[in-house]
Amino acid sequence: MNREPRADESGEFHAASQAQPNIALVKYWGKRDAALNLPAVGSISITLDSLWTRTDVRFVPGQKHDRVSLNGRSDEAEAKRVTACLDLLRQRAAVDWGADVASQNNFPTAAGLASSASGFAALVHAGAQALGLELSLAEQSVLARRCSGSAARSIFGGYVEWAHGRLADGTDSVAQPLLAAEAWPLRVAVAITSKAAKQVGSSEGMRRTAQTSPYQSAWVDTQEADLSTARSAILARDFDALAQISEYSCLKMHALAMAAQPGLLYWNGATVECMHRVRALRQQGLPVFFTVDAGPQLKAVCEPAAIEQVKAALRDVPGVLDVLDTGLGAGARAMPVGALEA
Ligand code: PMV
Repeated sequence: MNREPRADESGEFHAASQAQPNIALVKYWGKRDAALNLPAVGSISITLDSLWTRTDVRFVPGQKHDRVSLNGRSDEAEAKRVTACLDLLRQRAAVDWGADVASQNNFPTAAGLASSASGFAALVHAGAQALGLELSLAEQSVLARRCSGSAARSIFGGYVEWAHGRLADGTDSVAQPLLAAEAWPLRVAVAITSKAAKQVGSSEGMRRTAQTSPYQSAWVDTQEADLSTARSAILARDFDALAQISEYSCLKMHALAMAAQPGLLYWNGATVECMHRVRALRQQGLPVFFTVDAGPQLKAVCEPAAIEQVKAALRDVPGVLDVLDTGLGAGARAMPVGALEA
């Protein structure tokens, strides 16, 4: 239930939240409704822990516009998306105040590291708190989805499934947790192969794919089976089964997108070398598999005992600039206001 926005002790409508990126193991690619950001397929992801977005939102009574700073800089294109997202919250709270938003990532933005997922999950979480909206996690997931599809999943921690949903209004296209991070604490090494922002964003890529790729209907038709296989693998903590289905879904999504016109090629040479390296490690008996999103970074998911060997092997691949290391983490949560300045 909504209540009147109430100022905090300092007289402000102010809150801060942190959310982490998630990486899809069974990929989302394609929309059944672009305006509501409804996916053509369901997806399954893992939420990370040591990469984060922290977002501070302050609604200012009487202010006409939003002022948005991302990593200390104003960014007009992102500011439009932030305003569209805050509008959904303002509508729910029946207020029309502009907000000051400051957001920081501790990892490269917009290069296939799901910065929009953690960014919009943190924005919805902080904005809802600042306005005193008491939203369930499912309601936050629906709102985050409308701002950036995969953000629906970053509201939750651990292993998460985002349902395709059947309803036209999208209220059933919501994420829910499948398994807690601690129940199967896999590790992820992220090989950074480029720090440049990607050239074709995921929404444009998905639109082009749906319109021109001859594989679109096969992609949609085979997704339910992949989701079911991945769900069972996660619930049984069956690493080999999860490895098989995750690499399959990743390569299938990229093949689908490569067959668009003009073709979408998100990888560089180092991405491909990393894929071979991960498969060679697995052949030697190391529990590790790869996945790649709409960008050139490769994520290698492994059992905890394998992480040092996986990182060393990826660091050794020519073209790899850096290797980050993270476990699985929690969903969006409140932060002390002022934490961004710290
Ligand atoms: O939600 P978006 O627009 O950031 O699209 C995400 C698309 C992929 O990362 C490639 C796949 C996924 O399920 O996250």
